[in-house]
Amino acid sequence: MSAPSVEAFWVDDHANPYPSYDRLRADALVPHLLDDVPVTLITRYEECAEVLTGADWGHGYAEGISPFRDTVAAIPGSFVRMDPPEHGRLRGLVNKAFTPRTVADMVPLAQSVVDELVTEGLRRGEIDVLTGLAVPLAVAMIPGRLLGAPVADGPLFRKWQLAIARGSDPDHLLGPADIAARSAAAQECLAYFHGLITAKRADPTPDLLSELIAVEQAGDQLAEREILGLCVLLLVAGMETSINLIGNGMLALLRNPDQLALLRERPELMASAIDEMLRYDAPTQFTIRVALADTTVGGHRFKRGDGVVVLTASASRDPLVYPNADTFDITRYDGKHPARRHLGFSLGLHYCVGAPLARIEAEAAFRALLDRAPELSLATETVEYQPSLIHRGILSLPVRLS
Ligand code: HEM
Repeated sequence: MSAPSVEAFWVDDHANPYPSYDRLRADALVPHLLDDVPVTLITRYEECAEVLTGADWGHGYAEGISPFRDTVAAIPGSFVRMDPPEHGRLRGLVNKAFTPRTVADMVPLAQSVVDELVTEGLRRGEIDVLTGLAVPLAVAMIPGRLLGAPVADGPLFRKWQLAIARGSDPDHLLGPADIAARSAAAQECLAYFHGLITAKRADPTPDLLSELIAVEQAGDQLAEREILGLCVLLLVAGMETSINLIGNGMLALLRNPDQLALLRERPELMASAIDEMLRYDAPTQFTIRVALADTTVGGHRFKRGDGVVVLTASASRDPLVYPNADTFDITRYDGKHPARRHLGFSLGLHYCVGAPLARIEAEAAFRALLDRAPELSLATETVEYQPSLIHRGILSLPVRLS
């Protein structure tokens, strides 16, 4: 096996990476160079699931064994790249914001935001599902509702999270301008949230950020720099992904009119349709892990400190696990078929903590569009993807509503 360059299969096929993933899956494990570091791409479902749920796998920054760029050093508190016990301490603190009950309380807000935006779109006969619906919805729910920040600062949040999300790609794929934008966004964002924390210390509000400040004030469980990192993590992990679920999902429905018609006919399929969107065209295409001990996966030996790229978007199209894996089928997760869980929200310890919130945002957006617009059609010939590899999302999706 020789190490292919990343350009050979991701960058050239950026608009549609799935045929490249198909070719890669000929081998379950593919050697690869990422930022000049030799890593292994894990291409198939079984091996991806094994790594994501395996006790021998994690991130290894605390032990200094990770071959990957240390994002935890850049953003303290970013528990998505931490191992136990630190991971559990921080995840436990934000978990309560995402219980089914807390998230259910956010449904009316999501619905009212979406209704207003769709009403406006109906007046014009057109809506941009990205910039005119998914982005303002995510701003209202994440910085707005969770962190208690003013939604009028939406353009700033979008600018920062886009720059940081783009910056999470391997450095050798980024230009100097991307790297500069990533650092500037992180600094501005940290300074912004420092100001917000100071304001909330004096005047707490009913949101997760004020609760985190109360934990910090109660003792030595949480430091302010960690709260700042949590704000950045929630902003980036929450906004970019939930926006792209709505964009990628709407595009899949528009390109598969039989599935769109079926969803109108059988609205009870909404939850299954959202899972299928996450399987078929996932907002997060891959993640990384590091062997924390000498171990094996798929019969291949890994040494402590070896890095892997877990290609979850490829695993979710693995024909060994999914019949007709390239078909968008909104009944796949209706409970009547034995469909394997998709990897769109990952698996194991780092399974997406915000998944219930992502689902209510997407459901509110799709219900409003389907219920209130009797005709939906693409108002553009071309769909342009963001340059990011890890995050798959389109920049704009104008749709006619009548
Ligand atoms: C469709 C939308 C979403 C997708 C596709 C998504 C995807 C993911 C994935 C794949 C991971 C795991 C990464 C890994 O295993 O390395 C993850 C973790 C995480 N997500 Fe999401 N996410 C979404 C929405 C959200 C939302 C709305 C929030 C919060 C507001 C959020 C916050 C997080 C956090 C904090 C983690 C870290 C969990 C941990 O490490 O324990 N996500 N997400």
